Parts: sequence; structure tokens; C-alpha cells
Amino acid sequence: MPNERRFEKIFSKYFAEVMWSKEVLIKLSVMNPQDLIRKKRDNGRFSPDEIKEFVNGVSDGSWSDYQIAALLMAMFINGLNLREQNALTEAMLNSGKTFDFSDLDGPVADKHSTGGVGDKTSILIASLAAACGVFVPMISGRGLGHTGGTLDKLESIDGYNIDLSTDEFHKTLKKCGFAMSGQTVDIAPADKRLYSLRDATSTIESVPMIVGSIMSKKLAEGLNALVLDVKTGSGAFMKQERDARKLARALVRTGKAFGVKTEALITDMNQPLGKFVGNSLEIFECIKILQNDFDKLMKPTLDLSVELTSRILTMTRIASSAKAAKAIVKNALESGKALELLKLNIKQQGGNAKVCDKPEMLCDKGLLEVKVKSPETGFITEIDAAEIGKAVAMIGGGRFVPSDKIDHFVGYACDSKIGSRVTVHEPLGTLYCRNEGQAAKVLAKLQMAYKIGLEKNVRKFELVKEVIS
Ligand code: URA
Repeated sequence: MPNERRFEKIFSKYFAEVMWSKEVLIKLSVMNPQDLIRKKRDNGRFSPDEIKEFVNGVSDGSWSDYQIAALLMAMFINGLNLREQNALTEAMLNSGKTFDFSDLDGPVADKHSTGGVGDKTSILIASLAAACGVFVPMISGRGLGHTGGTLDKLESIDGYNIDLSTDEFHKTLKKCGFAMSGQTVDIAPADKRLYSLRDATSTIESVPMIVGSIMSKKLAEGLNALVLDVKTGSGAFMKQERDARKLARALVRTGKAFGVKTEALITDMNQPLGKFVGNSLEIFECIKILQNDFDKLMKPTLDLSVELTSRILTMTRIASSAKAAKAIVKNALESGKALELLKLNIKQQGGNAKVCDKPEMLCDKGLLEVKVKSPETGFITEIDAAEIGKAVAMIGGGRFVPSDKIDHFVGYACDSKIGSRVTVHEPLGTLYCRNEGQAAKVLAKLQMAYKIGLEKNVRKFELVKEVIS
């Protein structure tokens, strides 16, 4: 080979290496926190690798809180497209373990609610769906601010253990058809750090980040189907229906992208759901419903639970139509099978299952019952459900910071709902509190949560406003 050709060959190889290393260098340099922050700050789009790098940095501690916070704000302002949203969900999901329930001889499904006041359907849906042949691995959270949490409600049952190991969770699921537990440290651990930094930087209200947070945890449950209860109204996270719809669509799209049958119901949270707000009182309401011994104020709780459970049955093909699904759920309720499974679950998770026969055990007889009276005669036209949730939290029934201790027994009964006619001094509700001091603290707040008008003037009341599938 002439010298010239040999030189050319060596040069091109060297040149290719230079090019290659330049590419790697570009890739490596883009992986720096500063560069990723700059990219999103300037409205750039992330590749899945870049999102993965960010989530890895959150999980392994190589990104500082201030770098994460800066990127969260940039993502909040400039958004994430669908590809980025799905990459974020996947990276968060892969930051921890996922369950494998392939040994169970039935479909695996769950429900997730975006949170509300008096929202107690989880306990009913888990029992009803399990009684219809679905396995429900329900991983729930605690209440914060005006919204309640399933774990706090369950802990009002004497002895009930919500801290199950992976093995105990699996065993309970197999035996009872459902298990209810708190999130373990190994499920989507990146979410814990991200959520607390989002909370501290006012970046919670971002649809793609909410999707990443909710779906990474739900997808870790190894589900075949997921129904989402996206609440809208005065007691919801998404006050406006259009925002709830946007979130519902994004959640459904991501669920499906991960191969999980997903549907979302946009449901009304313009007043507390059902009769009671407060942990043990809400379990009392669930058991009364499962005993088929409920009053009309509890009916919306049952109706929404039947609706959501029916969606699970059609998605998992246990029922061929919505009508057939409702008939199957009704049978699970009326035959007492759902109550039997709740009893079994409570026993299995260490709780006193006698509450299923005597739900009155959940009512603390030492509490003061104070009536909240209507200041005028007219019709209830609006209820600020968040204010009712906050009032219950203020007397100890909820928490304002995660470390707050709660009183499981205090609460509130909604004696009159939107559309009811009330006369002056007639009770709007009943407060169950520890002493007069607590009552004085929240009575005016509760009274002011109601708007009384001279005319009935209510829009058509729809518990389920829209189904997104
Ligand atoms: N619930 C979650 O789990 N994550 C969010 O980001 C919002 C609500």
C-alpha cells in the first residue's frame, strides 16, 4: 500500500474514533444535571435515556435537592410530551420492585382515586371485586390536608396491620382475594423523594408528573386492569372538570401504553361522598353497606363503588357488559360474600373482625355529638367539601403534615346534602368531637361550608360525569 493510502486509512480510523468519542462526550455531557436543567429550561425535549438519568440521579442521591428542584420547576413550566411522560413513568417504575402475581388463578386489578372527602370506596371495591373473582392488590396512602387516606381508615379497626411484607401481602391476596397495605420502600422509591420536593416547590399540579407518580406505583402492582376515580369539585384536587378530564386522559393513555387495561371515571366531589367523614365512621359506613343495612345518605357510596367495581369486571372480562357486571356485583353484596371476605381479610391482617358483625364497635361512645345548624331557611345549593375535610382534620381526624398523629374516631356526619330543604336551626350535620373546645374551633367553619339559597337551583346531579376509556 502506498504511504499515502496507508496514511489515509490510519487517519480515517483515527477520525472515526474522534467522531465516536465526540458523540459519547456529547452524550455524557448532556447527562450532567446542569445540562439537563438547561435543556428543559430552554424548552427542549428529553430522550428516554435523559429521563432515566434524571430518575437514577434522584434514586442514587447523585443529584442534589436543589438540582432536582430546578429541573422540576423547568418541567412544570415547559411540560413533558407523551413520550417524556411515559419515559418518566417507566424510569420511576424501574426505580424499584414490581410484583409478580402470575401464580394467582384469576385476573389482577385495582382502583385508584385522586382523593376526596368521605371517599371510602376502596374498602368496598376490594371486597366486592374479590367476591366476584378478581384479585385486588391494593396499595394505598395516608390522608393529608382535607383528603382522607385508606390506611388511616383501616387503622381504626383494632389491630389491623397495614405494614405487610411482600410475602405477607402475597399470602393475604391469595387467601382473601385482596390485600391492603402501605407502600413499601421498594415500590417506585424515586417517587418518595420527588413527591416531597414537588410539594416543597409548588410543582405538584403538573399532569405528566402526577401521571408518573400515580402510574409508577400502580403499574408496580402487576395489574391486568386499573380503574381510576378522578374526582372533580370543591373537595377534589382538580376543582375544574376540564382539568380532571385532562388528567384522566393522560392517566388512561399511560396505563394503556404499559399494556394495562385502564379506564377513568370523572366523578363528583362537590360534596362529601355518602354520609360520614372521619376514619372509623367511614369504615362503619362501609360495613353497614356490606350488611345491606344502610340509610339513603350512604347510597352514593354504594352506587359509586358498584360503578367502579363493574368497570373492573368488564375490563377483566368477568362480565360481558356493564349490565351483567352490575348484576354480579349486586349478588356479591346481597349474598353477603363481600362481607365474608372483608371479615377474612381483617382477621388475616391482624384486626378484630368482630366489627363486621357489630360495626357500632367503631363508634366511640365517649364522643360529644354537636349539631351544626342551618343559619337560615332555604335549599342547600353548594357545599365546600374541602372545608368539611379540613374541619375534621382540625379536630384530629386528619393531618396537615405527614408526622401529625390522628384521632381515628372523631368525624362528621352529613345529615343534609345538596338539594335538601332546611329550615333555620335544622341540623346540616353532626360533629363527633372530644370536647367543647374542639367544637368551638370548627363550628363556624362547618356552617360556612354550606350555601343556602331560596331556590333549589341545582344542576343535574351526576355522580359519574364521564367515562374515559
Ligand atoms: N397522588 C400521587 O400519588 N401523586 C401525585 O403526584 C398526586 C397525587
